[in-house]
Amino acid sequence: MAAAEDPAPAGKSITERFAAWRDRLVGSASFQSWAARFPLTRGMARRDGQRLFDLVSGFTYSQILYAFVAFDLPAQLNAGPRSVSDLALRCAVPPERMQILCQAAASLGLLRRRRDGCFGLARLGAALPGVPGLAQMILHHDVLYRDLTDPTAFFRGDTETELADFWPYVFGATGPLDHGVAKTYSDLMADSQGLVAEETLKAVDFASARHVLDVGGGTGAFLAAVGKRHSTPRLHLFDLPAVASGANDRFAAANLSDRARITQGSFRADPLPEGADTITLVRVLYDHRDETVRNLLAKAYAALPPRGRIVVSEPMSGGANPSRAADAYFAVYCMAMRTGTVRSADRISAMLGEAGFVGIKEARTDRPFITSIVTAEKD
Ligand SMILES: C[S@@+](CC[C@H](N)C(=O)[O-])C[C@H]1O[C@@H](n2cnc3c(N)ncnc32)[C@H](O)[C@@H]1O
Repeated sequence: MAAAEDPAPAGKSITERFAAWRDRLVGSASFQSWAARFPLTRGMARRDGQRLFDLVSGFTYSQILYAFVAFDLPAQLNAGPRSVSDLALRCAVPPERMQILCQAAASLGLLRRRRDGCFGLARLGAALPGVPGLAQMILHHDVLYRDLTDPTAFFRGDTETELADFWPYVFGATGPLDHGVAKTYSDLMADSQGLVAEETLKAVDFASARHVLDVGGGTGAFLAAVGKRHSTPRLHLFDLPAVASGANDRFAAANLSDRARITQGSFRADPLPEGADTITLVRVLYDHRDETVRNLLAKAYAALPPRGRIVVSEPMSGGANPSRAADAYFAVYCMAMRTGTVRSADRISAMLGEAGFVGIKEARTDRPFITSIVTAEKD
């Protein structure tokens, strides 16, 4: 995968020679000191300094966010601002430490400090509970942070990762699965599916679909969103038995049972059900190695009729234009899971092409940090 994404080595162009000279220059302490004083470079030097400092302190920022959620400050403050001593009592934190946490959270835009020293929610802090799945996602990051404790060993691949055990069934996916683990995982996925479905349904028109098969569809959150938006397509969910059974309640609650069908199976071992004119793969491919993805795309191709459509929706690497969300977060998360990998839209398009798909297109989304989309058709 990494090799396939590597650009071909090129000779040194004028641009590269200029970049090397610039890198040597900005790396010198005397240039930095001059640039911070010179009127034309002062602003840029300050911005670069701030950005570097943000990278240095990013881990601390994440931990402040974690504590903000773990102490449930949004709920503590939803009735209005409170004094630090009140919050300290409610959260069982010594007041002088609570003062530091509140001040830090205010600096990050989560809290707002009033003139009287009380703290209330700021816009970001108030918005957090309204983003489905975000608080749960933040809280389960303690596992990822432990995996990253020694980053050099992590990138060398010298360490076992806890995250690999945290979602065990997703990757092995061969033996029987524990229903409790499956439920924890599926609930987290379903909670965060709202925004993914919103972006996907904005970017791709399902109005003309007659029958949508959502492969790896979890407990049906995406299909339920399709069913609520469009009254005609039949909805068909395919997932592992321990997971798919959870979709019955969701379809019933959404009044979609008469249009919905569930097939339990594994895309590793079983063919995909036929009959759908649209197959969706939402946040599925990035969990798996290339070999698994190739087999899955071949099965999707086999299951579709001519002109049938495939929709891949998941966070994608920025490729030639690396993106923070996909390349600095999802890629590292997937690496900690050990079998997953974040692919660029170009890479996914190439794999779709290898499977025989044509008319491969990227559909733009407003929030690529939530999902990106590639669609294609069977010839
Ligand atoms: C990251 S979750 C995404 C769930 C859902 N599509 C969503 O976006 O909320 C990946 C899904 O793939 C399913 N999955 C993993 N391996 C599978 C397999 N071999 N066969 C069928 N489904 C599988 C998991 O059970 C899980 O529901």
